[in-house]
Amino acid sequence: MAFPIVRHRRLRQTASIRGLVRETVLTVDDFIQPIFVVPGNGIKNEITSMPGVYQFSLDTLEQEIKEIAELGISAVLLFGIPESKDSVGSGAYAEDGIVQQATRKIKSLYPDLLVVADTCLCEFTDHGHCGMVHTYERDGHVCGDVLNDESLELLVRTAVSQAEAGADIIAPSNMMDGYVAAIRAGLDEAGFSQVPIMAYSVKYASAFYGPFREAADSAPQFGDRKTYQMDPANVREALREAESDVLEGADMLMVKPALAFLDVLRVVRDQFDLPLVAYNVSGEYSLVKAAAMQGWINERAIVTEMLLGMKRAGADIIITYFAKDAARWLREGK
Ligand code: PBG
Repeated sequence: MAFPIVRHRRLRQTASIRGLVRETVLTVDDFIQPIFVVPGNGIKNEITSMPGVYQFSLDTLEQEIKEIAELGISAVLLFGIPESKDSVGSGAYAEDGIVQQATRKIKSLYPDLLVVADTCLCEFTDHGHCGMVHTYERDGHVCGDVLNDESLELLVRTAVSQAEAGADIIAPSNMMDGYVAAIRAGLDEAGFSQVPIMAYSVKYASAFYGPFREAADSAPQFGDRKTYQMDPANVREALREAESDVLEGADMLMVKPALAFLDVLRVVRDQFDLPLVAYNVSGEYSLVKAAAMQGWINERAIVTEMLLGMKRAGADIIITYFAKDAARWLREGK
C-alpha cells in the first residue's frame, strides 16, 4: 500500500497546533472605526442600509467614543454631514465645521485616540461631487466637469482646518491629481509638518459605496465619479496612482474597496513599502449584515474570514464598520 508522502493534516489536528502554525493574525491595533457626525442634539440615526451604523450628533458621540476607546481601538475616521451645502463645500473647511467640532471634542475627551479626518468635499457640496465643478446643460440635462486644480486649493484649506482642530492623520479621498503634494505643502506651510497623510491612492469608482452615500448624504446629483475614481478593471493603473502618491510624500497608501480588490492590495504591498490600508467599505458591510439578519450566515465567522483575507493580501490597517464588533470578538477569544 502506498502511503501519502506528505501529510498536511499533521499540523491541523488540534486548535493548539493550528494556532502554533497560523500565519496571519488579527489584532485590535489593525482597525479604524469610521464615524458619521451630524449637527444637532440627541441624534442617533441608524443608516437604513447599514444596520448597526449611526449618524451621531456631538452629544451622543460621547458614548460611542467611550465604547470605541474602551474596546482598545486606536483610531476613528470622521465623516461629517453639514447643516447646509453649497457649490464650493464651504462646510468642509469652516473653522466650526462639523468635522472640526467633532475632532476637538474627541481629542479633548480621549487625547490618545487618533482622529483620522476624511478630506473630501462630496459631503459638503450641493452637487455631491468631490471637488468644484463647472456645470453646463446638454440636451436639457445638467452636466459638469470637476475642476481639478481649483479643487486642490479647497482641499488644502480643508486639510489645514482639520489639522488645526487637532486631527492626527489627514485622509484625502477626493482622487484629484496632485492632491498629496498640494496637501503636504499646505500642511507644512501651516506648521503641521508632523501630520501624516493617509492617501486614498487606489480608489475605484465602485457600486460598493452605495450605502455610504445614504449615510453621508453625498450621492452625486448629476453624472458619476468615473472621471476621477478608477475603473475597477484596472490594476497597472493602480500602481501608477500609488507611485505618484509615494513621490508626492504620502505616509500611507490605501486600496478601496477591499473585497473585490484583494489582488490590488497584494500588488501594491509587493511594490511599495509604506504602511498599507484596506478600506472594507459600506456595501461590503451591508451585504454581510443583510445576510446575517436573515440568519443565512455566521456573521462573526464571515467577518473574521474577510478581515483575515485583507491582511493576508497585504493590508497592515483595515478601515471597517465592523471594528467594534471585531474588537469585541477578539476580546471574547476563541
Ligand atoms: C468620499 C468618500 C466615499 C467613501 C469614503 N470617502 C464615497 C465616495 O467616494 O463616493 C466611501 C466609503 C464607504 O463606502 O464605506 N469621497
